[in-house]
Amino acid sequence: MTSLAWCTGAAQRADRHIRPFAPPDVAAYNALLESLSPADVRLRFHSASIPSPAQVREMLFGPAALGGVLAESSAGELLGIAHAARERSERRGEFGILVAAPYRRKGLGGALTDALLWHIAAHGTTEVVAYTAWENNAAAALLRSRGFVGKHDGGGTMRWVLAIPGSRAS
Ligand SMILES: CC(C)(COP(=O)(O)OP(=O)(O)OC[C@H]1O[C@@H](n2cnc3c(N)ncnc32)[C@H](O)[C@@H]1OP(=O)(O)O)[C@@H](O)C(=O)NCCC(=O)NCCS
Repeated sequence: MTSLAWCTGAAQRADRHIRPFAPPDVAAYNALLESLSPADVRLRFHSASIPSPAQVREMLFGPAALGGVLAESSAGELLGIAHAARERSERRGEFGILVAAPYRRKGLGGALTDALLWHIAAHGTTEVVAYTAWENNAAAALLRSRGFVGKHDGGGTMRWVLAIPGSRAS
């Protein structure tokens, strides 16, 4: 059993599975991105456009990448993904998360967040930041529920910070 499997054990259910994101999952992530509403694109990427497949690969597997986790249904459908990349420091990660619209408010965002935090803490990340649009109430509730503290960052953005307790390097 991998450490991630141990961490996510409580979040696993018969109808969904959380596991590390792997290179063959890029196509499914691109398909999920293509299906997003313009509002969701803006909430997730603070932009009117989704990242290209090459940018997705860079975010997940480039030199700054800290890893990602995904949730899939028992039929193999991608339900959500969370990933992180180094932000200006070896030990600080920037976190991003997306749950497919039909699967929201079912605990998936929280389960993905917990799994990703556990994974990056085990690899030496001691602080995590996230950026959200100030009106993104769902992300704010999710981040607050996991202990992130938010501050207005100017330009309609909130910057959220979490020191990871029990991180390997802390
Ligand atoms: C933000 C997002 C990932 C939340 O995913 P989710 O699966 O709905 O989250 P959960 O069901 O696990 O909820 C987590 C917590 O947030 C709360 N929450 C979620 N959506 C909420 C909403 N719309 N309003 C108020 N609270 C909300 C839940 O009640 C829960 O709180 P609890 O743990 O105290 O019970 C999802 O809405 C999404 O993908 N949004 C678009 C992309 C985005 O905004 N990403 C964030 C920027 S990187």
